[in-house]
Amino acid sequence: MRSLIDITDFNKEEIDGLISTAMDIIANPSKYAEKCKGKKLATLFYEPSTRTRLSFEAAMLELGGSVIGFSEANSSSAAKGESIADTAKVISCYADIIAMRSPKEGAPLVAGLNAEIPVINAGDGGHCHPTQTLADLLTIYREMGRFDNLTVGFCGDLKYGRTVHSLIGALSGYTGIKIVLISPEELKIPKYVRYNILDKHNMPYEETKSLEDALPKLDILYMTRIQQERFTDKAEYERLKDSYILTAEKMGLAKEKMAVLHPLPRVNEISVKVDEDKRACYFKQVLNGKYMRMALILKLLEEKALDPVNRLSFGDLPLDTTNFKCNNPKCITQVEQELPHTFKCVDEEKGIYRCVYCEKKSTDTF
Ligand code: NCD
Repeated sequence: MRSLIDITDFNKEEIDGLISTAMDIIANPSKYAEKCKGKKLATLFYEPSTRTRLSFEAAMLELGGSVIGFSEANSSSAAKGESIADTAKVISCYADIIAMRSPKEGAPLVAGLNAEIPVINAGDGGHCHPTQTLADLLTIYREMGRFDNLTVGFCGDLKYGRTVHSLIGALSGYTGIKIVLISPEELKIPKYVRYNILDKHNMPYEETKSLEDALPKLDILYMTRIQQERFTDKAEYERLKDSYILTAEKMGLAKEKMAVLHPLPRVNEISVKVDEDKRACYFKQVLNGKYMRMALILKLLEEKALDPVNRLSFGDLPLDTTNFKCNNPKCITQVEQELPHTFKCVDEEKGIYRCVYCEKKSTDTF
């Protein structure tokens, strides 16, 4: 049985397979209208969402299945202190597949380790968001016709923007990708993305504070909002919130065929005037997200039918559960006291261990 917790859980061939299925769904929707008849999707959303939750629901309904779930933590037993592990076991009795969003990093992984059914990470804190990446990839494919040899600029909140972390992870599977990271100093990409993805895959990347300098070289511009809810210092958010605004004038600096993506919601980082530009692809991206979620639900349910028993495990990296303590306040280990602090060795030579849930490096020890 498979789950999708991190985009790198799927290899390039599997992602290509999802894109082919999505393209077939677009061409022949009626062929898929009853594929999930009798199946239930549970949407467990502990954090606000418009697109992701409704697109999962629309995806399951268009496959002929049905949907149960909740859209805020207060309306679930989490408000009474139920653990993610227990919730996952309970929902396994009612549904065939789970889509979970949580403000706690690593919560969907805990669910996947304990559920009897596939779990899809629909966003965990500032960590990752693999199904948004599926929407982004289908959009890139439909707009550019390829994934290789693209210069992709990420602009805005690269620190807390989980969609950025996951898309960089997916792009690491393709050749000739150049990454341009455009952010203020305070919102640069987290170290685990820098070392575990960019450096590990020798992906060429540059960093700049200037959107104007970067624009002329980009094939894809991936804009993001500054993630207000993840800041501990509200004054810092106020200072940084208007760091980048893409305007119709600035679009004049870009290539004729550049595509502008944004996972949405937009706050003010793209002027509404840009919507009229044929290079603005963010609303098409929303629709592509539904098709990719349909393809994903089908794949995970098919794989479950082939292997209903084996659950998600930590993979084959060496683990350490005794020497290190995770001190990331946003990690699931901080609220679920009984979860063992488990670290995976990501660099044996340098002895670097990272938390299996949130990927923060071990700095504290027990
Ligand atoms: C993103 C998210 O929730 O991380 N939105 C989405 O799922 N489409 C981006 C964001 O909130 O900025």
